[in-house]
Amino acid sequence: MKAAKKPLRVGVVGLGAIGQIHINGFRGAGAMRAAAADPAKSAREKTQAEYPDIKLYETPEAMLAAGGLDAVVVATPNKFHAPNSIAAIEAGCHVLCEKPIATCKADADKMVAAAKKAGKVLMIGTQCRLMPVSQKVRQLTDAGYFGNIYFARASIVRQRGIPGMGGWFTTRSVAGGGAIYDIGIHTYDHVWYCMGCPDPVAVSAAVYARHMDMNSYVFAEMWAGPPKKGGACDVDDSGFALIRYANGASMILEVTWAANRPDEPMKGMVVGDKKGASWEVGKDSFTVVGQNDRGGLIEESTVSFDKSAYPDRWRHFIDCVQNGTPCLVPGRELAKVQAVLDAIYESSARGGEVKIKP
Ligand SMILES: NC(=O)c1ccc[n+]([C@@H]2O[C@H](COP(=O)([O-])OP(=O)(O)OC[C@H]3O[C@@H](n4cnc5c(N)ncnc54)[C@H](O)[C@@H]3O)[C@@H](O)[C@H]2O)c1
Repeated sequence: MKAAKKPLRVGVVGLGAIGQIHINGFRGAGAMRAAAADPAKSAREKTQAEYPDIKLYETPEAMLAAGGLDAVVVATPNKFHAPNSIAAIEAGCHVLCEKPIATCKADADKMVAAAKKAGKVLMIGTQCRLMPVSQKVRQLTDAGYFGNIYFARASIVRQRGIPGMGGWFTTRSVAGGGAIYDIGIHTYDHVWYCMGCPDPVAVSAAVYARHMDMNSYVFAEMWAGPPKKGGACDVDDSGFALIRYANGASMILEVTWAANRPDEPMKGMVVGDKKGASWEVGKDSFTVVGQNDRGGLIEESTVSFDKSAYPDRWRHFIDCVQNGTPCLVPGRELAKVQAVLDAIYESSARGGEVKIKP
């Protein structure tokens, strides 16, 4: 009989909203909750009260120096993703880092290189790839069902949904970007994954900040709370881009944290020369359009999927670390996403198309 694998010893850096979700997620997946670090006393106290078995540290450095960890989750504001991930990898840990991978492509590349050198898993928190709809569409893409995918569309529209206005989410020096970094990345990444992750080569984009004045912003209920008066608000609240790929395909991306138009859920579309699929995230099925095999008539059909057949991010991460299962959200692919994010801001600032080097 095979010996049972020891539970993974996980350290969590950053104990805010998503850090707490990771602690719960790893517990649910059977990993041991070993340690956590956060400079905020209130965050440490809240965590300690809820999980008395977790060893708490004021700094990630102290947590890593104490040793005894197999993996680290980086759930800090964006600016601290790269330094914390690299430190954890160099301390011998596998890393699950929140999205975006970093705040520039150069830092993302350093993270990927560190993980490669150390032979560690670097998985990123763009979990929308693991959604059943993404997995099912990607299976069909890989099987050639759509033919050559030449166009895709990814969108999410919030009428008024800026998170933590005046906090770190809207402070460029800490967040790196606004709507594009926060919700745009999930939207873009899962559709790009469905396309088969073609290499991006050029971006033409415009980003806007037309609702970033806290004094006039009409606050709608948000999980991150009401605006913090006096804080910074110097990031984009919306962005629109045309991304071109090396295989000739293109994608239109549309993202708003705030806009004068009705809310729309996250949506995706891939269009191939045989068939195309469109979906709304959260539904149990998606629509396929294309010529049928019996006379070539255009047909619209619904593809359903079994939601329980796909792994969640914590089980998948543990599987990658303990069983060597190939990571479905690898750092090296998210470094390519980061190149697109960098190019979106550069293109908007320059007012023209920006080329992306392979
Ligand atoms: N995958 C997802 O769906 C998802 C959802 C929400 C947030 N996120 C990402 O998770 C990260 C954290 O977001 P959040 O909503 O939990 O933010 P948050 O503000 O709720 O929590 C951030 C925590 O990090 C701590 N912190 C700040 N600087 C630190 C440092 N240098 N070292 C250690 N801890 C530090 C803060 O004290 C705070 O407790 C962000 O990168 C965000 O983009 C991902």
